[in-house]
Amino acid sequence: MPSEPNVVLVTGASSGFGLLAAIGLAKRGCHVFAGVRSPDREALVHESASAAGTAVRTVRLDVTDARQIEQAVGDVLAAAGRIDVLVNNAGFGMGGFFEDITDEELRRQFDTNFFGLAAVTRAVLPGMRIRRSGRVINISSIAGRIAQPALSAYSASKFALEGLSESLRLELMLYGIDVVLIEPGTYKTDIWGRNRGFAQRAQDPSSPYYAMSQRLTTIVDRMVEKVGRDPAEVGELICRVATMTRRPRMRYTTGPNVRLELAMRRFIPEKLYEAGARRILRKLFADA
Ligand SMILES: NC(=O)c1ccc[n+]([C@@H]2O[C@H](COP(=O)([O-])OP(=O)(O)OC[C@H]3O[C@@H](n4cnc5c(N)ncnc54)[C@H](OP(=O)(O)O)[C@@H]3O)[C@@H](O)[C@H]2O)c1
Repeated sequence: MPSEPNVVLVTGASSGFGLLAAIGLAKRGCHVFAGVRSPDREALVHESASAAGTAVRTVRLDVTDARQIEQAVGDVLAAAGRIDVLVNNAGFGMGGFFEDITDEELRRQFDTNFFGLAAVTRAVLPGMRIRRSGRVINISSIAGRIAQPALSAYSASKFALEGLSESLRLELMLYGIDVVLIEPGTYKTDIWGRNRGFAQRAQDPSSPYYAMSQRLTTIVDRMVEKVGRDPAEVGELICRVATMTRRPRMRYTTGPNVRLELAMRRFIPEKLYEAGARRILRKLFADA
């Protein structure tokens, strides 16, 4: 990393982890460009930064829009000359049992969480490669390591991101570019509220999964309320990884019970794990 302030581009910086990371990094002296897709959320980003005693610059960036990616990355390079750190944070979750999810909905999930991220990364990498320095931080999820029912689209997109990141980390090692995965568990952000995606058919009473979807929605809401943590924890982790001088690890996992869940998945034999899962699912959906 260079000795001058880091130039950082954060995608999905209009709420949740992205906004917290953008503000946290600006407070640490970084030159932050906050990618915001909806113009009506720009003011909120500036107000939040100003309330925290700092400032960020916003760039218009919907990661599914190739022209906006080119324009946003071009604008950052024109203004700051380089991008030292890219935080690929933009994402959302498409819930629903697989049979209820249309191809179009599945593609929409991948367009943001995977192809959008890949396109932004591809636009930023040439500069990092030429300078032989840079860091790409991909916000994955515990769902990218362990899949849950009714989250196949989201999990598939995050598993794909995990594979992309592992490969890219090795490809870019010799160019001095770090690729890092951050894998949060459940945190209270808008991903569970205004940005929550549902397969349309999951809300259709004629779907054979309707009752289970309804039950699951209640369970998830309760779970987020009960165990969901403060997103500031992830914002802080992103800031730490973005600014550390030593080489970051490949993965940073954080959140309620995530280490225990990973250890159970790893060490409990498959048959035993599935027997436990079957018992839990039977109990949850007994009368659904
Ligand atoms: N919260 C959790 O429990 C949790 C756990 C594991 C992983 N994650 C991951 O963390 C990341 C951030 O999510 P969050 O929890 O902070 O949720 P959030 O508050 O809903 O933030 C998501 C951000 O992504 C933006 N976004 C969505 N689609 C976009 C697109 N096509 N182009 C550009 N921006 C887009 C949203 O913009 P708008 O404001 O315009 O909607 C928003 O700024 C996501 O990748 C998510 O998968 C979250």
